[in-house]
Amino acid sequence: MILSLLNQIEEALQVIQNSTKIKPEIGIVLGTGLGSLVEEISDKVILEYKNIPHFQLSTVESHEGKLHIGKLASKNVIVMQGRFHFYEGYTMQQITFPIRLMKKLGVKTLIISNAAGGLNPEYKKGDIMIIKDHINLLGDNPLIGHNEDSLGPRFPDMSEPFSKKLIKLSEQIAFDKKIKTHTGVFTAISGPTLETRAEYKFLRAVGTDAVGMSTVPEVIVAVHMSMDVVGFSIITDECDPEKLQVLKLEDVVNVANSTEPKLREIIKSLISQI
Ligand code: HPA
Repeated sequence: MILSLLNQIEEALQVIQNSTKIKPEIGIVLGTGLGSLVEEISDKVILEYKNIPHFQLSTVESHEGKLHIGKLASKNVIVMQGRFHFYEGYTMQQITFPIRLMKKLGVKTLIISNAAGGLNPEYKKGDIMIIKDHINLLGDNPLIGHNEDSLGPRFPDMSEPFSKKLIKLSEQIAFDKKIKTHTGVFTAISGPTLETRAEYKFLRAVGTDAVGMSTVPEVIVAVHMSMDVVGFSIITDECDPEKLQVLKLEDVVNVANSTEPKLREIIKSLISQI
């Protein structure tokens, strides 16, 4: 028998609540190369995805597959070290299940991060982009199918998927810490192929500042459930169609790793002020 979404959430909830008394209020999804933020979480329990009902396994090497629940910057947080991607063959509902669970646990704010290609010619490798809006080119949507009205509306409004207040706060924090950031539009494509030169031209022409293979499904589901969302892209490569270089995954991971300390500072300060 296929369990309803609500029953699936309930089963996962039981496992979490049996392992910790902490009630998280902030959820964090860590993208490629960004997982080391978890080192700073205190009083924590760590659950492997394989031990949580209805969680999938991260099949990508650069993604760990662990859920951390504990304290960061004096707030109760739940952190996904590693996420699921559409190109791994998971459904949109599977990819976004952890966000459903976070909401049920009491999370009101979602902080999400990714590694992305920079299309805006001003963006350089290692820059951070605060996401102000998104374009969904995944060819799917996690809300297709039966709508669970108790979780959110059939036709969720998308006029402000990323909280203007949290964008402003992030910009201010970065400015105070002298960390360079941009604020721009993120487009999600399915991958796993990188883009052709013609696709980069197309993506730029439609208003993309950074492109990646994640984030949009989780944001849609968070918005469906009225969560406040703030998102960050680390620009790991410069996608100038005229000067395109062959992209290696290790370069993406290296750039994300070396930029992570700056993003970590922004995120910690943000958490303390939410
Ligand atoms: N395209 C898509 N996804 C990416 C890229 C890119 O150029 N860089 C890092 N993730």
